[in-house]
Amino acid sequence: MATLLSAQGVSRAFGGVQALNGCSLNVEKGSITGLIGPNGSGKTTLFNVITGYVKPDAGKVTFDGRDITNARPDKVFAFGIGRTFQLTRIFARMSVVENMLVATQHDEGSLRGLTRSKSSKADLDAAMEWLGFVGLARLASTEAGMLSYGQRKLLELAYVLVANPDVILLDEPAGGVNLTLINEIGEKIRTLNKDGKTFLIVEHNMEFVMRLCDTVTVMHQGCDLVSGAPADVRSNPLVLDAYLGGGDDEDEDEDSQADNG
Ligand SMILES: Nc1ncnc2c1ncn2[C@@H]1O[C@H](COP(=O)(O)OP(=O)(O)O)[C@@H](O)[C@H]1O
Ligand SMILES: [Mg+2]
Repeated sequence: MATLLSAQGVSRAFGGVQALNGCSLNVEKGSITGLIGPNGSGKTTLFNVITGYVKPDAGKVTFDGRDITNARPDKVFAFGIGRTFQLTRIFARMSVVENMLVATQHDEGSLRGLTRSKSSKADLDAAMEWLGFVGLARLASTEAGMLSYGQRKLLELAYVLVANPDVILLDEPAGGVNLTLINEIGEKIRTLNKDGKTFLIVEHNMEFVMRLCDTVTVMHQGCDLVSGAPADVRSNPLVLDAYLGGGDDEDEDEDSQADNG
């Protein structure tokens, strides 16, 4: 397999905090790659650097052989890198389908999105198709703010999918979601992957990661610590040390500031 997305030696500090410290990551085309590590190890910051929300102090990001370091978020999105956020970002006062139509306008440049008042039939069809895929079609006209937490996650996934990116970055897709829905999200990812989509997934739910991913990279203190097959990574003593010594990683969701790209 060929590398589709890579970060090489990426560093980024926030004040005195070295969030990333020479971090490297490879995502093979067609893979489902997991990115794990204790809270605060830099996973979301790496997502933010890759997708243009945060500028790196050093290092390089390439996509499909092209240097995309420092490209702005809308550019990165247009290149074919879609992402969801650890804390979902939907327009609460708009209906579910209206949220989707915002997404269909992304790839045409924001100007057209702003000046155009009506979406095309094709956009609407695509929006409804992907809402159907995630099981939200019957809620299309519901105000998005009325959705449950899990349904918002599904809407965000549909929102990313309608733009048809080559690689999809998911930040904690299973976080705070019930087990039935976790399994459903896992199935959706698998189906999409069979159709050729590449995934990079940050997730604390270890079972979800181990079951779904082909390769896992473990981060620790802003660096990539180990990469490999899930079973090898899981039993690697370095990884066990990182988790045990790295403080608490299981039940918190306190790093929301890193999402404010
Ligand atoms: N925008 C920011 N401003 C200040 N500190 C930040 C910001 N983003 C991330 N950090 C800090 O960088 C470190 C890595 O955070 P993050 O990338 O969110 O880790 P993870 O997603 O692995 O939990 C943490 O110490 C976090 O507090
Ligand atoms: Mg995070």
